[in-house]
Amino acid sequence: MTQQLPCSQTGGSAADYHIHTGNCIDILPELPEKSVKLIFADPPYNLQLKQELYRPNQTLVDGVEDTWDQFPSFESYDEFTRQWLSACRRVLADDGTIWVIGSYHNIFRVGKIMMDLGYWILNDVQWHKTNPMPNFRGVRFTNATETLIWAKKSEKQKKYTFNHHVMKQLNDGKQMTSVWQIPLCTGKERIKDENGKKPTRLRNLRHCLRG
Ligand SMILES: C[S@@+](CC[C@H](N)C(=O)[O-])C[C@H]1O[C@@H](n2cnc3c(N)ncnc32)[C@H](O)[C@@H]1O
Repeated sequence: MTQQLPCSQTGGSAADYHIHTGNCIDILPELPEKSVKLIFADPPYNLQLKQELYRPNQTLVDGVEDTWDQFPSFESYDEFTRQWLSACRRVLADDGTIWVIGSYHNIFRVGKIMMDLGYWILNDVQWHKTNPMPNFRGVRFTNATETLIWAKKSEKQKKYTFNHHVMKQLNDGKQMTSVWQIPLCTGKERIKDENGKKPTRLRNLRHCLRG
């Protein structure tokens, strides 16, 4: 399904923007080859939660239990990952780049598959959450990071966009490093769906697009 995005939400001409909704493995093959300059992907994490998690005050942590995050095995997650990353590589322009965000649950598998498919990693940006959720049971470190892999299409790719000066400006005039300290969205800033829950990565995405 294709939707046109209202101009006011994009800052550009309405005719230039479309939202395609559906399974990306079906939709991406319909797009012309090498037609996309920048891809940002926030794929399923394959969290595989084995039990419910409670805070010390006995309230339930709202984990991801959706069917889109459930895979019967690592092999099936890897196969899904290989399919969407291959489809992305076909549509990526020869001077384009891709960002993929993930946690320790999936990012190492995603990174390996990206390298196997021929992508060439430019950076692994660590998103350091300044307000992470504590590890309530105190059995391991508080997980305060996620990883954003930034990659070009191949090792031999010469050209891609990197707005070095813009990123420097955003970092008080110093070259930006691959560690981004950004709080989790909370309160009103957190976009919610009809079920009342929805993660949002707007702040990271803003950095990636400007870079
Ligand atoms: C980790 S969440 C990303 C959430 C997103 N960043 C946001 O703020 O709404 C993964 C998303 O991938 C979507 N998804 C899962 N499988 C998909 C597929 N085959 N094609 C397209 N989207 C898919 C899910 O619906 C879910 O919204």
